[in-house]
Amino acid sequence: MRILHLSDTHLTQAPGSDGDGVDPRESLRRMLHDCRAVPGLDVVVVTGDIADDGSAEAYTEAWELVGAFARRRRIPAIFSTGNHDDRAAFTAVLGSGHFDADGRDRPQARFDGADGERAAVTMVGGYRMVTLDSLVPGAGYGHISTAQLVWLRTVLADPAPHGTVLAFHHPPVAVPGVEFHSVLGLRNGQDLADQITGTDVRMMLCGHFHLQLFGMFAAVPVWVTPGVVTRIDLTAAPGAMRAVKGASASLIELGGPHSPVLHTLHARDPLAGHTAFEADAEEMAAVIAELGPAA
Ligand SMILES: [Fe+2]
Repeated sequence: MRILHLSDTHLTQAPGSDGDGVDPRESLRRMLHDCRAVPGLDVVVVTGDIADDGSAEAYTEAWELVGAFARRRRIPAIFSTGNHDDRAAFTAVLGSGHFDADGRDRPQARFDGADGERAAVTMVGGYRMVTLDSLVPGAGYGHISTAQLVWLRTVLADPAPHGTVLAFHHPPVAVPGVEFHSVLGLRNGQDLADQITGTDVRMMLCGHFHLQLFGMFAAVPVWVTPGVVTRIDLTAAPGAMRAVKGASASLIELGGPHSPVLHTLHARDPLAGHTAFEADAEEMAAVIAELGPAA
């Protein structure tokens, strides 16, 4: 089982570069182009912040670019929401977010919450791919609703042939001492742990932090893939944030002798590693105060 894991494309309605000199559309195009020779992919998974501005145009662009890549290979393409996404616009364009190998919105199961939250299931080669919705409108941190977790428990009641992969935006793991991780990650990780302990969940795929990060949670490996649009460089001063240019993606290999094998791919961008934006500790404290008030 080989997954191409993308996240945080941050596409916008307006074409061209954003205020940091990064063109999100070009980053995604470049990443997909440079993955054209990667063999043996079974599915493409995009774990949220697909749109930066929640616009329908951004979801259409994501579908045109990622969908075309997946359809050429005759593999499913799966999308989930992040904190920058708009559920209504996402649904209008991407539906459940689960497209089969023919590009049709056809999940094997789906959850549609009262406030537009969505979760869905696609089976790929005996693996059960489940997207969850950790978006909290107006907040930077994540939370998975009780209704969604109850639905997840029913999905997991019957083991899949090779187990389950959960894909959602906000990581339940953090780098110790990095405040934006602890404040802006998944707030109710313990609720998720309670539902998946003892089940066939084998892997969790997340985004949001824009950097490659591995950790264990509820005895399950968690992988955070760097952003397609930018990568956060933790060599910045404590409390500060530096984002650098250069699109990245991850390859997730499951089922082999060393499973899970996790590998980061970098697009061939001559500006990779160049600073896109920096925020000092004071500026970051203001961002965290605005987006991550205590639950
Ligand atoms: Fe995010």
